[in-house]
Amino acid sequence: MRDTASLEKILVLDFGAQYAHLICRRIRELGVYAELVPFDISLKEIFERKAKGLIFSGGPKSVYARGSPLPQRLVYDAGLPILGICYGLQAIVHQLGGRVKHATRQEFGKASLSLKSDAPLFRSLGSEEVCWMSHGDAAESLPDGFESIASTENSPYAAISSGRTIAVQFHPEVTHTENGMKMLSNFVFDICNCEKNWSTEDMIGDAMLELEKKIGPKDRVICALSGGIDSATTAELLQRVIGKRLYCVFVDHGLLRKGERERIELAFRPKLGKNLIVVDASRIFLKKLEGVRDPEKKRKIVGKEFIATFAKVSRKLGNIKWLAQGTLYTDIIESAAGQSKHESRIKSHHNVAGLPKKLGFRLVEPLKDLYKDEVRKVATALGLPKELVNTHPFPGPGLAVRVIGAVTKEKLEICRAASAIVEEELELSGLYDGVWQAYAAVGDDQATGVLGDERRVGHIAIVRIVESTEAMTADWSRVPYALLEMISSRITNEVPGVTWVTYAISSKPPSTIEPQ
Ligand code: XMP
Repeated sequence: MRDTASLEKILVLDFGAQYAHLICRRIRELGVYAELVPFDISLKEIFERKAKGLIFSGGPKSVYARGSPLPQRLVYDAGLPILGICYGLQAIVHQLGGRVKHATRQEFGKASLSLKSDAPLFRSLGSEEVCWMSHGDAAESLPDGFESIASTENSPYAAISSGRTIAVQFHPEVTHTENGMKMLSNFVFDICNCEKNWSTEDMIGDAMLELEKKIGPKDRVICALSGGIDSATTAELLQRVIGKRLYCVFVDHGLLRKGERERIELAFRPKLGKNLIVVDASRIFLKKLEGVRDPEKKRKIVGKEFIATFAKVSRKLGNIKWLAQGTLYTDIIESAAGQSKHESRIKSHHNVAGLPKKLGFRLVEPLKDLYKDEVRKVATALGLPKELVNTHPFPGPGLAVRVIGAVTKEKLEICRAASAIVEEELELSGLYDGVWQAYAAVGDDQATGVLGDERRVGHIAIVRIVESTEAMTADWSRVPYALLEMISSRITNEVPGVTWVTYAISSKPPSTIEPQ
């Protein structure tokens, strides 16, 4: 098995953007190993890590503000290709003698990019491309030796270059930049001369190697099993490394989807036997959540109760040293528990920032460097069943984050029943596997309906169906009207207490996938 330290790689310097990790992930998707490193990494370390090229990420600061993060000046003399993205462009301009200032016309959203198609970054692209912009500052003048290689209506310097130092004001890493992957591919293969060195087998090898290194030969591990693909893949990897020393604990917190507990028993009991432990803790979870409206508080409560439940199980089993979780890269980024102090928090995922300070276990998270689609590839290669691989992600705090406001029995029931209808109808229309997540949420707003001759006030079910590849960005799915009509009609007819059905049509960003 390989050690990633010896691999040639792209280093992504992290200036604090939410999307810094996504750049890394995109490069790895191209088959080249990439790592996220602090923005002030030294030249010595850059060479020790075998960098073939550097990417400067975006970031929330202004380069001209006091204390803003800037790379070490020596980095520019390393002779390595550099690609600056958004703040990364501004850092390059600022440090090499150009001028950056607050833009008079800020750009957010899609923009039309006119580009010089003979620039190596744009090889094989047309002269007009769609790009995603999100910036308040902009370059006003360029450093000596730089030229503009692309512009938009508002940005004369949408992309600039000087030899192998290249920078773009837009975000090639988000899918809204339609040919962003092609640009990254041009940078990685044509400009940095990287060779492919990163595959699913490598990811499995690295994850198993880490488990072997971490877990002692007699240590026992409990794995938090949710029935989703992340924890199932975690359990599978662990079972291969430690066999019967693995115990999987499934906690029914009363916030599950319809039929979920039964599905878990059916899928995992034959494989795990008595090493599958199912705990019904729904009464305690629902009691602790009573009257809590704040989503962050809900997540923390769920995180804490999960740990308390695992602690109970571990006391019963005795001598459990490790808690394994199916935490992904995205959970860590969104909880802003990553390495940069410049990142800002989106949501405290229950399994990351929701964990209590004194845990009582040591944590093992073999998937923490992977994105969901990478986990799907790993799960397939490990031979996990197709239905499990294709199951939509389900948040750990479950319906607590799909019930907006306080969690009540009535709202939970609506959420559960309406979501089951959404999923059933998608399956029937053959669209289930093509979308990322599909469910119904419910809040406290009420709307009037008519039942027979009677007016009736009831809840509004919010149907959300999104497409995504890694949950960092997402778009609402343009499913056929006939399907929406069927979903709406079934929910209002079959789910007591619902009078209206709406369809959520905001993308991520600016919204998130879950309503809370
Ligand atoms: P958002 O709503 O932030 O979600 O766009 C991104 C992805 O993460 C899932 N999600 C969670 N998963 N614990 C989890 O295990 C959480 O607290 C949590 N919050 C969101 C969400 O379902 C989506 O796939």
